[in-house]
Amino acid sequence: MILVTGGAGFIGGNFVLDWLANPKAEEIINLDKLTYAGNLATLASLENDPRHIFVHGDIGDRGLVESLLQKYQPRAIVNFAAESHVDRSIHGPADFVQTNVLGTFNLLESARAYWSPLPDNQKSSFRFLHVSTDEVYGSLKADDPPFSETNTYEPNSPYSASKAASDHLVRAWFHTYGLPVLTTNCSNNYGPYHFPEKLIPLVILNALNGKPLPVYGDGQQIRDWLYVADHCSAIRRVLESGQIGETYNVGGWNEKANLDVVNTICAVLDSLRPRSDHQSYSQQITFVADRPGHDRRYAIDARKIERELNWKPQETFDTGIRKTVQWYLDNPVWIEGVVSGSYRDWLKKHYN
Ligand code: NAD
Ligand code: TYD
Repeated sequence: MILVTGGAGFIGGNFVLDWLANPKAEEIINLDKLTYAGNLATLASLENDPRHIFVHGDIGDRGLVESLLQKYQPRAIVNFAAESHVDRSIHGPADFVQTNVLGTFNLLESARAYWSPLPDNQKSSFRFLHVSTDEVYGSLKADDPPFSETNTYEPNSPYSASKAASDHLVRAWFHTYGLPVLTTNCSNNYGPYHFPEKLIPLVILNALNGKPLPVYGDGQQIRDWLYVADHCSAIRRVLESGQIGETYNVGGWNEKANLDVVNTICAVLDSLRPRSDHQSYSQQITFVADRPGHDRRYAIDARKIERELNWKPQETFDTGIRKTVQWYLDNPVWIEGVVSGSYRDWLKKHYN
């Protein structure tokens, strides 16, 4: 079996669902602290699936993690658990240092304590896969080549700095202790079960609720977008065949300016769920104050994972965004469950 952390969040939840969609898949122990971003409703379809063992807890809790490792003897840990939202990291960086830096440190130490005494064959096949972000590389100029695995780390937000720190710890646990680690650095994900504080789900829900669609600054910041199922397939490939100690950049070859992303969502909604006044949702676009320290451009050179592990994304942005909008239209119950009081408090605090 494998231990997944943060598997009640957006990407971890998609990963667990995709993994267990295979009837031959190994069991998963899913350790999640259930912060505001963790949501058991995402995993509701697994309620009666004995292959999914959910444990409520913190990756930083050494006693708990070591007892889980001893009890279940997983062959791998896939670490999704993190504080993940840049805007929240600007309002309150402490949780980011706590989970992303100290939490990863403690998880590495728990993994090392479990892994060190294993018999040789289990020791060499064990994997610690750390899921990270392209934001650790900092911001690109318009004509810079996309980020490759050899780019220097130049994180600019408390979020990306905390993820960069965690990546360095993972690297050091390989070089110093020989822990068989793998790291993936992925671009912006989108798709089902995405918490609506992030751009794409926020815009879909605000559009449907007749609210402003907030675009920071001039809306010309560029991100590379990857459909979440493609990220999950990349992680499975790296877990299966990645070279220990290596890092793999994962991206969708889909560089888009934020304003274009918002306009595309509006156009999809105009066709799938037209406004009652037959005007375009794009009329709701509102330019708001820019994010402090806002990175201008991210872009991923995903040739290494393609060349060495034969991985390629399946979705284009056009197919992925249509699926995503349709998913939000089809899942009002899940949405009802996440737009609770604490979500409304966040919107008030951040956008007012
Ligand atoms: P998310 O915020 O949706 O989910 C994070 C999950 O981790 C939640 O379920 C939360 O309850 C859990 N968690 C938080 N702190 C924890 C702790 N101390 N112990 C145990 N569980 C804890 O995040 P996401 O978007 O699914 O991102 C998952 C990972 O992928 C993160 O490491 C993130 O840095 C990375 N990543 C995200 C993106 C993206 O676009 N969302 C892109 C690249 C990489
Ligand atoms: P986000 O989804 O928060 O991801 P990240 O900051 O990790 O890239 O934001 C994506 C882009 O959209 C980013 O450039 C910030 C911008 N953005 C807005 O313009 N308006 C918003 O309300 C939000 C949440 C983000």
